Amino acid sequence: MDLNTTFEADKDTVVMSSLLRLVKSTIGSKSLVGVTGLGLSLFVLSHMAGNLLILVDPKMYNLYGHALVTNPLIYLAEMGLIALFLAHVVKAVLLTFVNRQARPQKYAMASSGDKATSAVTKTMWAQGLIIFVFVILHLFTFKFGNYYEVIYDGEPVRDLHRLVVEVFAQPGYLVGYIIALLILGLHLSHGVGSAFQTLGFNHPKYTPMIKKISCLYAFIVAGGFIAQPLYVFFIYKG
Ligand code: HEM
Repeated sequence: MDLNTTFEADKDTVVMSSLLRLVKSTIGSKSLVGVTGLGLSLFVLSHMAGNLLILVDPKMYNLYGHALVTNPLIYLAEMGLIALFLAHVVKAVLLTFVNRQARPQKYAMASSGDKATSAVTKTMWAQGLIIFVFVILHLFTFKFGNYYEVIYDGEPVRDLHRLVVEVFAQPGYLVGYIIALLILGLHLSHGVGSAFQTLGFNHPKYTPMIKKISCLYAFIVAGGFIAQPLYVFFIYKG
């Protein structure tokens, strides 16, 4: 083996171990939680926007779902989504644990004047776990739920619209979804802004605006989702 190859191999090892150390370090973990959180925030926005078609037309809703699942890139997108979810949840839980070990005694008082914000901040881990459980249940309800079919122009298509209407006609699902989506809204309202701060967008001039945009984003995503079960339960007549 010549000296150059050995040098290149050593350089690769150093880069890899520095990367590993960064991912394991607190700042690396925080950045990973931030980046994966922003990725998931984009996913929920697009998922909410696509699903809004339920307010428009059953056929459009079904054809949209069909176009997604028949896209050859769907498996790649799903694997990316699972990786984002797992990295976000595992790293966030570990960070919470490490922070608690480092600071075992709880604050006697919340910082004055910002009690509402600090309650949301302090319960981010609990909101995250509720959302995680919600997503698993949600997949069983819809993705792996009852399979109905409808024929459009001679082609069989999954009738997701019928399933969604069937599910949200039940008051238990209606209330459960609204609670979960409100929690998602809380999580996003703090999470999006916090991710930007962790990634370095921290400036006295811009931070208040980033916080406002974060709340607006959360309102749009949660509001857009919540409109769907409400529409099915109270307005849609079949
Ligand atoms: C009113 C609220 C919601 C409705 C009506 C809804 C509806 C659906 C439906 C019908 C599917 C199945 C799509 C298919 O198999 O073609 C689905 C998949 C999925 N949903 Fe939702 N969803 C809602 C909220 C959420 C939220 C808040 C999240 C995440 C926090 C979420 C995460 C997912 C994921 C990860 C998938 C699987 C995507 C895939 O495998 O390609 N959903 N949703």
